[in-house]
Amino acid sequence: MKKLNIIGGIAVLAAAVAVGLLWQNGDASADDVADNQILMKQPPAPEDADAVARGRYIAIAGDCVACHTAPGSKTAFSGGYSISTPFGGIFASNITPDAETGIGNWTERDFYRAVRHGKGKEGENLYPAMPYNAYVKVSDKDMHDLWLYMRSVQPVHNKVPETDLGFPYNIRLAMMGWNLLFFSNSPFRPDMSKSAEWNRGAYLVEGLEHCGACHTPKNILGGDRDAYLQGSNLGEWHAPDITSNSYTGIGRWSEAQIVDYLKVGSNHVAVASGPMAEAVTNSTQYLSDEDLRAIAVYLKAQPASPTKAPQPLTAENAQMKMGANVYSANCDACHNSDGKGIPGIAASLADNPGLMAEDASSIITTVLQGGRGAVTHANPTSGAMPSFAWKLSDEQVAAVSTYIRNSWGNAASAVPVENVKEERELLKLPEQMPAGQGD
Ligand code: HEC
Ligand code: HEC
Ligand code: HEC
Repeated sequence: MKKLNIIGGIAVLAAAVAVGLLWQNGDASADDVADNQILMKQPPAPEDADAVARGRYIAIAGDCVACHTAPGSKTAFSGGYSISTPFGGIFASNITPDAETGIGNWTERDFYRAVRHGKGKEGENLYPAMPYNAYVKVSDKDMHDLWLYMRSVQPVHNKVPETDLGFPYNIRLAMMGWNLLFFSNSPFRPDMSKSAEWNRGAYLVEGLEHCGACHTPKNILGGDRDAYLQGSNLGEWHAPDITSNSYTGIGRWSEAQIVDYLKVGSNHVAVASGPMAEAVTNSTQYLSDEDLRAIAVYLKAQPASPTKAPQPLTAENAQMKMGANVYSANCDACHNSDGKGIPGIAASLADNPGLMAEDASSIITTVLQGGRGAVTHANPTSGAMPSFAWKLSDEQVAAVSTYIRNSWGNAASAVPVENVKEERELLKLPEQMPAGQGD
């Protein structure tokens, strides 16, 4: 299935390249946006401590550090992290002010063009793994503060390896086609019919925080589908529906519960783990309470996705029977027989909308490899869940996943054994150990 998509993707991309070449002139607009003149004329202004502090907040909201720092590296922004895409790994650049290997000899205008329009220093197209399609919404003022902050960080001499994707993705020109199809080159426009709070939330979610990069489903070329924030597969994880849908989305969460999730990393039911734990740990926990509330107001106002709750599977179902046994032997101790877990530590499995998504990848991943909730200032210890890959067979993992999706008032599709097998391979986890060794 995934392979087919990629082959289809190549065909479509080749067409997109052709379209890109045909419409070369049409692309010029991407460069022409009148970036704020105040800044272009002079070299970076004398260090303005307030602006640098504001810029740091912008960099945190944009989570620049997440991609631009290699895992385990002590030097923020020095690049080298390879972002895996269905088309191959893409190395994030060194964006410290080192003249030779970073952006030390960039002008402010070069920086704006890269961050907001996806153009490298020589005008080459950047890969959309750099979320310029969201950052295009960042205001001139925030860009200026961000620039001053980025000038103030420690320069690090670190040459990042060249990204080398296979044909035709290795042709940066191909991204011109991508931009034509999927890049909307327009700044943030406030909606005057909405409150200032809603607009602030929109500005953050659509722009700096690029929540849609993970939560909006993508087409085979990695462009956004017309299903804003309705949930998306990230390989090992599923970023759930965060529209106001009251079944799979955050419709039943209060604004305060959304704020808790983004600040603490957990709320009355959910615990952020995997990529969301990183987003909370690096970025959202540092946002001001006003900004977090604005995000909550905006999310609550998003039209509900069309997903509807199915009839729950009944206790007679074979997977449900097996699942109930697996659950009481392995999960009960932390998640409880009522599925409510331990508040703030072990996620509630009852009434937890993320667990009801059609795509059960996050559940399977969590059961197979275990996990750790987001570590934040508000919850410095968080809780951990052990890995069950060695203990449970694919059938058992599928059964217990199906069971938790259909108990305590939950209702969702059964999880196919095949999906667990695929996920185990993807995670490179070993098979279940022969009986006896595991217990
Ligand atoms: C989701 C990952 C991701 C995030 C978040 C991200 N970047 Fe990037 N960025 C990349 C990747 C990948 C590249 C390299 C793209 C390429 O080679 O075409 C890149 C390239 C760049 C470049 C061009 C550098 C060069 O040498 O051409 C700049 C400047 C940049 N990013 C700045 C930022 C800033 C500032 C932020 C935060 C506001 C940010 N990035 C956030 C992934 C990311
Ligand atoms: C790097 C990818 C990524 C980014 C960026 C991201 N998310 Fe998430 N998000 C996820 C994943 C994956 C989950 C599921 C986590 C889990 O199962 O513990 C999630 C879960 C959530 C949930 C909980 C939903 C539920 O039903 O449990 C909320 C709310 C949420 N994200 C909001 C946001 C907001 C708001 C932003 C932007 C500020 C954002 N996310 C940015 C990947 C991401
Ligand atoms: C030792 C305690 C412990 C045991 C035993 C345990 N869990 Fe967990 N579980 C946790 C903690 C802590 C979290 C939150 C951290 C995380 O998501 O990784 C969690 C999270 C989860 C989540 C993710 C919820 C979300 O919102 O993303 C699922 C699904 C889950 N557990 C299912 C199970 C199943 C099924 C079993 C039995 C096979 C099990 N757990 C056994 C502690 C435990």
